Amino acid sequence: MPNLTPSDFLAAAKRRHDRLIEIRRTLHMNPELAFEEYDTSALVQSVLGELGMEMRTGVAKTGVVGVLRGGAATDGSRCVALRGDMDALPIQEETGLPFASKNAGKMHACGHDSHTTMALGAAMVLTELREHLPGTVKFLLQPSEEKLPGGASVMVAEGALDGPKVDMVFGQHVAPRVAAGTVGFYPGTILASADEIYITIRGVGGHAALPQATVDPIVTACQLVVALQTVVSRTLDPFKPGVLTIGKIAGGTATNIIPDEVRLEGTLRAMDEEWRRAAHTRIEDTIRGICIANGAEYELNINLGYPALNNDPWATHFAQEAARELLGTGAVYDAAPMMGAEDFAYYLEKVPGTFWWIGAGTPEQGCNAGLHNPKFTINEDILPVGSALMAWVAYRYLTQAG
Ligand code: NI
Repeated sequence: MPNLTPSDFLAAAKRRHDRLIEIRRTLHMNPELAFEEYDTSALVQSVLGELGMEMRTGVAKTGVVGVLRGGAATDGSRCVALRGDMDALPIQEETGLPFASKNAGKMHACGHDSHTTMALGAAMVLTELREHLPGTVKFLLQPSEEKLPGGASVMVAEGALDGPKVDMVFGQHVAPRVAAGTVGFYPGTILASADEIYITIRGVGGHAALPQATVDPIVTACQLVVALQTVVSRTLDPFKPGVLTIGKIAGGTATNIIPDEVRLEGTLRAMDEEWRRAAHTRIEDTIRGICIANGAEYELNINLGYPALNNDPWATHFAQEAARELLGTGAVYDAAPMMGAEDFAYYLEKVPGTFWWIGAGTPEQGCNAGLHNPKFTINEDILPVGSALMAWVAYRYLTQAG
């Protein structure tokens, strides 16, 4: 049985509410884009430094790995990792808040300022309770969740999960349309893979009134967009989700000209890795077939995005139960999967763990704009809640592993 109680964690986090708000607002006012999080990284390092934490810096360029060795750790005891992402988005903020972004065209519109703050809050709480920890806690403050190849993939490649080796990893994301302080879990594939598709159809341009002397890439492209609809509808189990959207089509200049080429761009979302790979082949086969039929040529680039995010069922049930202990049953809900993507998936390819939603919305106060929206904001009351939750889940896991 654990020596510490949920109220020890909640109290330790709530004592730091003002400090957490200060950190979050500093980050919010000074957003930095993917792999450029230098000031953010410096702030993270100074907070972890104040805690006397062992640190590895410059991981994935601006990432920081903090290591907290528990006072009750023994040889061979477990290591649990908590992740916070640090990057902002290229969006002009329109919240009008007194602590709105000072960097034109950049905004923490996905809540990563709060994720970083809550990971640091968990570090504060766990450092205070360090003597009771029967294992090691690692803090993964990573760059570039928003931009390929994803900070998490570089963190993993640069050994963030090694030395000491991580046994389990937890991460959280704010949900601005869900009531503040509630947390949602899903034991399985909760987010999709997201690949970018770039297609160029090359024909032979010419006079619109002399089609026999051309190879028309517009007709070819139109057939292709329709034919690609069968990739999902005819090759994927109807009980499994998948999306193929062509979001951009560009070609041609005038009513009386058949152009040389047409460009198409789209996204493929999948929950199943095997089908994802099969879909890539089917997409190319479809393009090739349509182009042969029309005498056109093509170029295809599939830019591999993040893999699907697979929450480990045991880790999810464990964290969900720990959340009930800390916050009460009424604050914990069952989340539904969605077709968004997150680079936390890369950690989960290496070690089991789970990624949960933390509600951050107070609609009556206007905290209800969606993620990536210029009016996005959060309810700051969640900062100690999310900090205590990460810390408690980590502590419970170390205690459980005993
Ligand atoms: Ni995000």
